[in-house]
Amino acid sequence: MRYMKNQNRDNLSPLDFVQETHKIKAGGMTPKCPRVYVRTFGCQMNEHDSERLRDMFVQRGYALTERVEDADVIIFNTCSVRKHAEDRVYGKVGTLGKLKAKTPGLIIGIIGCMAEAQKDEIFRRLPIVDFLCGPADLDKVPDIIDKIRNGAGHIMYLEGYKSKRIPEFIRDRRIVSNTYVKIMEGCDNFCSYCIVPYVRGRERSRPSREILEEIKSLIAKGAKNITLLGQNVNSYGKGLKEKNNFIELLRKIDKIIPSPLPSPLWGEGRVRGEIKINFLTSHPKDASQELFKAMRDLKSISKVMHLPIQSGSDKILKKMNRKYTVKKYKKLVKDFRKTVEGGTITTDIIVGFPGETLKDFNDTLKIVREIEFDAAYIFKYSPRPFTKASKFKDDVPLKEKERRHRLLLEIQKKISLSKT
Ligand code: 5AD
Ligand code: SF4
Repeated sequence: MRYMKNQNRDNLSPLDFVQETHKIKAGGMTPKCPRVYVRTFGCQMNEHDSERLRDMFVQRGYALTERVEDADVIIFNTCSVRKHAEDRVYGKVGTLGKLKAKTPGLIIGIIGCMAEAQKDEIFRRLPIVDFLCGPADLDKVPDIIDKIRNGAGHIMYLEGYKSKRIPEFIRDRRIVSNTYVKIMEGCDNFCSYCIVPYVRGRERSRPSREILEEIKSLIAKGAKNITLLGQNVNSYGKGLKEKNNFIELLRKIDKIIPSPLPSPLWGEGRVRGEIKINFLTSHPKDASQELFKAMRDLKSISKVMHLPIQSGSDKILKKMNRKYTVKKYKKLVKDFRKTVEGGTITTDIIVGFPGETLKDFNDTLKIVREIEFDAAYIFKYSPRPFTKASKFKDDVPLKEKERRHRLLLEIQKKISLSKT
């Protein structure tokens, strides 16, 4: 990495920027600092976890690299929501055998949901892997690496999700205009197809004071789009000592977004509305008219609602343990569109869930045509360990899942195009 005194730092990539910032603080990086490569699979939660992890490494004097060939430590932050995501990691890590053999001291780790779900199966299939670490313990990763350097052999750091630990606040976040803030971790919903509660654990929320502090510091560093993350943001606040809920939190956040008057506190020329707060994901059983009103009234809150429907058949929704009906979902959409003028609705859909007949699938097609989502993320059902649905017969053949997937994608594509 080169650093020239007069270089325009705005032109640096986020990766370079974070390295430069730390070099300056440390008074110049040591020429031989170890290099870490972090690759992310899966959702925004994982993207965010990787972002935190990179910051932790940089604070410990590591440099970041985007090439496995240059790395001293290679980390895959993984996803278990569908089997395909796990297969990709097995494939990718499987290709690193030669590199490991010719690079003395190279450390390879698999972290995140798949580490938790697959456990020592990973060591069996990929003996080149040195350590595993679950999503609730990512702050332990740099220490795990130190232990391996000191000859500890294979390390597994799993099942941290059983504790009530709340994700820690990072004080030295990378400066990027689009960034995430975790407001809660885990999920208590136990949708019958979903592995998340088993790998990320039960729901726990961060105190609002911490969230506000983090948002303020990100804005002061130039963040423009901040996405609040949680598996089910609508149930934010459960179990906290303070009395709080998601709508209350949105109100508190909106209050700290810079006012139109230039203020030395926020930097010159900032106007209210310039900074947008998004949130992911909402569960239809907990979304309410009160939330829609908050989206309408609070200027900094974005008008995008991601509201996964999963299926258009009540029979399948019940088997999925989603706790709402198609009628209730349709009413929510109607209320949202009436209340939040110019709002956008996106969704997730699973095709080929056990017992999904042609009639059930046609009901999904019908609701997709009727609602006209702005975007839909469509997935083929994939049986996942620990889940209730993994005990159901996976009776829709792969070819048929693919056909339903294709058909829905085509229909949604036309709808999305007609809206742009
Ligand atoms: N198979 C297919 N899709 C799934 N999802 C979650 N679990 C599974 C599974 N076992 C989808 C859901 C969820 C999105 C993040 O992933 O649609 O909303
Ligand atoms: Fe999984 Fe359902 Fe929780 Fe979403 S709400 S993370 S789909 S269990």
